[in-house]
Amino acid sequence: MDLMEAVRARHSVRSYLDTPIEAEKADQLRAFIDECNGESGLRIQLILEEPKAFSGFFAHYGMFSGVKNYIALVGEKEDKDLEEKCGYQGEKIVLRAQQLGLNTCWVGLTYRKVPGVIRVREYEKLVCVIALGYGSTQGKARRSKAVKDVVEGTGHPDWFIRGAEAALLAPTAVNQQRFKFTRRSSLVLAKAGRGPYAKVDLGIVKCHFEIGAGKDRFMWDWEMK
Ligand SMILES: Cc1cc2nc3c(=O)[nH]c(=O)nc-3n(C[C@H](O)[C@H](O)[C@H](O)COP(=O)(O)O)c2cc1C
Repeated sequence: MDLMEAVRARHSVRSYLDTPIEAEKADQLRAFIDECNGESGLRIQLILEEPKAFSGFFAHYGMFSGVKNYIALVGEKEDKDLEEKCGYQGEKIVLRAQQLGLNTCWVGLTYRKVPGVIRVREYEKLVCVIALGYGSTQGKARRSKAVKDVVEGTGHPDWFIRGAEAALLAPTAVNQQRFKFTRRSSLVLAKAGRGPYAKVDLGIVKCHFEIGAGKDRFMWDWEMK
């Protein structure tokens, strides 16, 4: 499964089977997470066989069941790009998990921080987690905005449209899809909307945009307004 196929196949899954993640797959994921941490300076952690974070009230309230594996997105509080980085690196891991035949769901609030499990140093922040495992289903497609709703300007090349289409398949908090893409020649600016976790969403959709458009077709513009 290539990355674009993973983008198309991924849906949020909230109900999981008891099947453990095989040691070999866990090792592959851990190695990939190490790479992501090296690239970004984050301290993303893989937590396996720990059912307490999603039990009792939290499972019920968040409509989750059977979650016992998750990925914790942790980084330095002072980093002004912390949320966006967690979105970008977290979604890379989500798509790698999908390629390994696993399912996922981003989770902002409906989990418990079990003492001594996720390591968060004094100068760090836990941004959110991603539930992980073998889903009892593969999830399903949900409603989505159209390309015209998330793109500014007209007359865009195919690669730009393909990037926006891949972004529309990305997970966003409460499916808000409040991001926008603008282009000047081969410079692309991605803007976060307002709303809960909008900066995390921004990182997630930038990851998808790169896969849809092709990373070598454009550069991210941080200055263009
Ligand atoms: C940052 C973020 C936080 C999220 N938090 C939750 C959550 O707390 N509970 C939940 O059930 N889903 C949560 N979701 C999943 C979204 O509801 C889901 O991605 C969205 O409805 C789109 O559906 P899809 O992922 O199947 O494409 C979150 C997604 C993101 C990106």
